[in-house]
Amino acid sequence: MASIDLKNIAHSYDPTAKDPIFALQPFNLHWEDGGTYALLGPSGCGKSTMLNIMSGLLTPSHGQLLVDNKDVTHLPTTQRNIAQVFQFPVIYKSKTIYENLAFPLRCIKMNKHDIDRRVKEVADLLNLTNILSKSANSVSADTKQLISVGRGLVRENVSAILMDEPLTVIDPQLKFELRRKLKEISARYGHTLIYVTHDQNEAMTLADQVVVMDKGQIMQMGSPEELFENPSHMHVGYFIGSPAMNFMNCRLSDQGIHIDDHFVPMELEGIADSAALNMGVRPEYVSFSDTPVANSVPAEIVEVQNLGKYAIATAKFGNQRVKARLSGKSKLPSGATNLVLHKEHMRLYVDGHLYSAS
Ligand SMILES: Nc1ncnc2c1ncn2[C@@H]1O[C@H](COP(=O)(O)OP(=O)(O)OP(=O)(O)O)[C@@H](O)[C@H]1O
Ligand SMILES: [Mg+2]
Repeated sequence: MASIDLKNIAHSYDPTAKDPIFALQPFNLHWEDGGTYALLGPSGCGKSTMLNIMSGLLTPSHGQLLVDNKDVTHLPTTQRNIAQVFQFPVIYKSKTIYENLAFPLRCIKMNKHDIDRRVKEVADLLNLTNILSKSANSVSADTKQLISVGRGLVRENVSAILMDEPLTVIDPQLKFELRRKLKEISARYGHTLIYVTHDQNEAMTLADQVVVMDKGQIMQMGSPEELFENPSHMHVGYFIGSPAMNFMNCRLSDQGIHIDDHFVPMELEGIADSAALNMGVRPEYVSFSDTPVANSVPAEIVEVQNLGKYAIATAKFGNQRVKARLSGKSKLPSGATNLVLHKEHMRLYVDGHLYSAS
């Protein structure tokens, strides 16, 4: 196991072009030894590019990669001791499942006895024990991918295991179970696990720390709770949470913020007059009251979606539309009401970035 540092890494697939396009904008990242991480972002944001730089499939056009403080930027994949599992199964179709799992160990010249012990241990974790002698080609797509995951896990002393959307081809029922297992395995063996996904639920349930990316940039790295409570950028507020965080445009006054006619007292400093201001609040921190209360604003319900376990109500006041996520037991609002914005959970964004007093 090892810590990994990406130092001033940036990547252009065509760095000699007159105006190169950067798949990854310059960034620094530190992955702790033994941490469980998710790399989360929409298609094309640079997740696989970053993973391939770490495994050595790609040499970054700029910057350095350190594994346990040793510069490995130009070392080939084979000398990095990093395992990688891809979106689609990578297996030897002509070999048995046992041989597929044993292969990475044969490559590092492990003795037969240890290979047998390790293959059986991994097979047991992934429920492959009873089919080890089957041909890898004869099993379902799900199982083929399980074999790929097993091949990633089988070496005990890898610096890190990188997984690039490994559960895409897995049946949804099995996905849940496998995700739980991967978390358990990485905790048991203390692997540094970096897991790529564009599914926020997958990222939030699997990882201790989630890195949110967009358009080649790292927007925020934090625990699922930090990303939920304090998105450092509006993009993170939109991308994490269901429904997304509400953002209301607002303006600055001497003692606080005006959201249309609703006044929120706040002590603020150093905000330029020209800055674009948005007040963010999660739908979980919005509720309704039949009578006016502290921090409430008269509003009109425009839509209620009852999803059984919870409901999403959309309310309108002034030029703002705000969604509330209400538990199944709440009384569903209708018509004219009072919208309550929970002040301690309101976050101000200045030109897209979370405001914090300096
Ligand atoms: N071999 C390549 N040559 C040129 N451009 C590439 C190459 N591979 C990826 N790109 C571009 O780099 C950017 C990042 O791609 P990347 O595959 O890293 O994204 P991703 O986040 O993994 O997306 P997805 O979720 O679809 O897998 C995209 O704009 C993509 O078109
Ligand atoms: Mg990808």
